[in-house]
Amino acid sequence: MARKNTTARVVKSRSNTMWGGRYKLGPAEIMERINASIGFDRRLYAQDIAGSLAHADMLVAQGILTAKDGRAIRRGLLQVRAEIESGRFKFSTKLEDIHFNVEARLTELIGQAGGRLHTARSRNDQVALDVRLWVRDTIDRLEPMLADLQAALIDRAEEYAATIMPGFTHLQTAQPITFGHHLMAYVEMFGRDRSRLADCRVRLNESPLGAAALAGSPHPIDPRHTARALGFDRPMANSLDAVSDRDYVVEFIAAASLAAVHLSRLSEEIVIWCSAPFRFIALSDAFTTGSSIMPQKRNPDAAELTRGKTGRIVGAFVALCTMLKGLPLTYGKDMQEDKEPLFDAADSLELGIAAMAGMVRDLKANPARMRAVASADYSVATDLADWLVREVGLPFRQAHHVTGRLVGIAADKGVDLDKLSLAEMRAVESRIDRSVYRVLTVEASVKARKSLGGTAPANVARAVKEARRRFPGRTKGSRR
Ligand code: ARG
Repeated sequence: MARKNTTARVVKSRSNTMWGGRYKLGPAEIMERINASIGFDRRLYAQDIAGSLAHADMLVAQGILTAKDGRAIRRGLLQVRAEIESGRFKFSTKLEDIHFNVEARLTELIGQAGGRLHTARSRNDQVALDVRLWVRDTIDRLEPMLADLQAALIDRAEEYAATIMPGFTHLQTAQPITFGHHLMAYVEMFGRDRSRLADCRVRLNESPLGAAALAGSPHPIDPRHTARALGFDRPMANSLDAVSDRDYVVEFIAAASLAAVHLSRLSEEIVIWCSAPFRFIALSDAFTTGSSIMPQKRNPDAAELTRGKTGRIVGAFVALCTMLKGLPLTYGKDMQEDKEPLFDAADSLELGIAAMAGMVRDLKANPARMRAVASADYSVATDLADWLVREVGLPFRQAHHVTGRLVGIAADKGVDLDKLSLAEMRAVESRIDRSVYRVLTVEASVKARKSLGGTAPANVARAVKEARRRFPGRTKGSRR
């Protein structure tokens, strides 16, 4: 069967009202579909209108627009915003994107003056501005959410500062640690995530407005004016860079990816900890779901989904880098493809952070079970070796060997190390005395690890205090 060539088919509509001056016919239906971004970039409406308001003010201040036109534009833009926010606005695919949709409606509302708004501007610097503002707003929302998650972790760490659990390497019991110490490790990770977002914010905070299409403008514009009005530190120095740079999107998604990886590792631990063989923690009803067939089940879905969303966030990073890597300067329509991955990554991360904060806030530990597992499998063997170094003066390598032999004897007998008699120990190393038993409990083991950054309960209590000071709820930043 012969297939119709859709690309050759032309919509018998009038040419595009925004750029169709030299066109006789409108675009093919498929062209309209591949070109339209309004389905997703409508999310930029607030940033787009804020940018237009600042641009119009600057045009008036520079004498490029009359004050009268400036007032009409302001009134019109505010009305467009109100229409969008109340859901009355009619978005049109024919008008491609948010920039054209807003401008077309503005002109409908205020007439001629609407057409003057785009003087000394292009959609290229306009979209660069909108996305920059959107990423900045998103960082300003996510960063305090991470602070909130840290606060939840710090609260639990305080509660469980002295709660003993097994510390793992290779997911094999290694040494006893405290649950509070474990949770505080994540406070550090999310602290770095916050600082990465803050870094990204510093670098992105330059205004691309004034670059126009790519080369700058012949009108007597003042890019410093718009930069200041929109809370930027300065205008961008190079107009070509201004319209083609998407570093801030990549940087944001890179920071988001790492935050997602951290969320995912904690999610994985939560899934393990609440499994039946572990039973280290219980999640609240609010953050688990039941099974449709097995009435006893409490599934940690929120943790699984937070773990699962990592793929799409990291995927967004790959999509963005791949989209940019072959693009010659300056703008290319490929760049329109930055938005869906960006929005999806930000939404996914936001959900993950919020879900994790909720899970952590509600979780209950099972200290008896944690302690029992921490005490098994000769987890205090290192403490015995350290005792031999300290009290007998053995070189560590030899102490390791002696301890290994004692663990072997205890394992053959099926008992813990502290159940070996003094005589049995002395048969291996004659200088061992009764005081050795003091180091052979999990409590003594964690208490002894008071070196900087170590797991001792006293350390955790101090780390909790310091963390509340080091990681305040909100960081500064030049917010609008
Ligand atoms: N919707 C476009 C985007 O997201 C806006 C910029 C269009 N610029 C152009 N020269 N066609 O990238």
